[in-house]
Amino acid sequence: MADHELTQVVILGASGDLTSRKLVPALYSAHCEKLFPGRLQLVGVARRPWNDQSFRQMLTDNAPTMKSCSYDSWEAFLGLTSYVQAHLETAADYAALGKRLDEIAGGPANRVFYLAVKPELFLTSVQNLKAVGLLTQEHGRTARVVVEKPFGSDLDSARALNHGLLEIIGEDQLYRIDHYLGKETVQNLLVFRFRNAFIEPLWNQKYVELVQITVSENIGVEGRGGYYETSGAIRDILQNHLLQLVALVAMEPPSNLSPKAIRDEKVKILQCLRPPTEEPDPSKIIIRGQYDGYRQEPGVAPDSQTETFIAARTYIDNWRWGGVPFLLRTGKYLPSRFTSITVQFRMPPHTLFGSYQECHLRPNKITLRIQPNDGIDLDFDVKEPGHGITIRPAKLNFDYQDYFHKPSPEAYQRLLQDVVTGDQSLFIRSDEVEESWRWTDSLRAAMAATPLQTYAKNSWGPAPANALFGECEGRWVSAP
Ligand code: BG6
Repeated sequence: MADHELTQVVILGASGDLTSRKLVPALYSAHCEKLFPGRLQLVGVARRPWNDQSFRQMLTDNAPTMKSCSYDSWEAFLGLTSYVQAHLETAADYAALGKRLDEIAGGPANRVFYLAVKPELFLTSVQNLKAVGLLTQEHGRTARVVVEKPFGSDLDSARALNHGLLEIIGEDQLYRIDHYLGKETVQNLLVFRFRNAFIEPLWNQKYVELVQITVSENIGVEGRGGYYETSGAIRDILQNHLLQLVALVAMEPPSNLSPKAIRDEKVKILQCLRPPTEEPDPSKIIIRGQYDGYRQEPGVAPDSQTETFIAARTYIDNWRWGGVPFLLRTGKYLPSRFTSITVQFRMPPHTLFGSYQECHLRPNKITLRIQPNDGIDLDFDVKEPGHGITIRPAKLNFDYQDYFHKPSPEAYQRLLQDVVTGDQSLFIRSDEVEESWRWTDSLRAAMAATPLQTYAKNSWGPAPANALFGECEGRWVSAP
């Protein structure tokens, strides 16, 4: 893209809090660091009767504190923003939107349409944008569409949405977002695994005993009870963020770094996940819970059966991972907020020091701290100085912030940058989203046969989740 070219980022549903909390700070920060090629305009579109002035005021009031950057001030950035009032359900409003976007651009523009709307409007919005020519790509101008989660609520609805969208635009125009993929530590998974010669030879069933992945939150549904009732922990976190982590931890090395090569390998892992319905007794592999007080949250049914906690044991049935348990866990109102991946290694084949019958002897682990305190830990045993042999656990830590002396960029910043430059590596392809729903549907079907257990706020969820580990396999990590 040439320096003088203009990109209009058009947020449909701009009055929602995603715009001021995440998208605008990310755009401002990328603009500040001159990460976008060419010129940028931001256009908010929503039903509210705002104008440019009131939209800018809303952004200033609600966005986290915006310090001026060396390149431009917040006020100057606001000058790049505009507002267009439109009813996004109404086809007739899109022609006026197109006209206004042309006026604001004052010439040819590449366009990114960010659908920050309710999922029922995904298809309608894209149909309407197409009908007025806003998705036409000609004379080297691009038109891309970003779709927020949830992308479907099961395999059938995801397929129908894919089908509907792909009848209108090409897969190359479609960016299905999962903000976890924009996190620096998640992107580092590929570098850590495939750039370091000492990791890859060990990363398989021969040496790995177990993998556990936790997305733990210490907040509740935060006023989103209505949405959460239809989603639960499985659709909110497990189907997307958690399965993406599984795919990145377990995938084969891609043949190159093209979006196709990376996404091909991720899809293969999702295809190999063992369907929980194959387990004769699902209660042995799935524990679901609901925090005490969830049913009193606004928008939540008094007899709600929605899970706010889920823990599951699964397997990736392929050559590399055959027989290695993958333990997955996520929940609201747990004692702390963290996301981590721990790869636990088998004991050496023969011990010179102590008996392997002792369950605490599981020294070697690599923990990838995705957030907060991003970093990597390596656990191993050492000899305590002194007479005789006394073995003690030790740890090597790598902390991003200590090492690089700068905070990691916000996930949305990187993702928006990639949309503008047309890199789809960190976005979910149609077959990927369908495969993740295929497994999730199986989990939900199997889960129906397991009881919903209440847990106290600030506890680690229902106690039986601990029994997902075999006798000597270890236990869940708490905040790393
Ligand atoms: C969102 C979920 O996708 O991810 C929220 O809808 C959740 O319920 C959030 O709180 C967690 O994201 P992060 O980046 O804070 O781990």
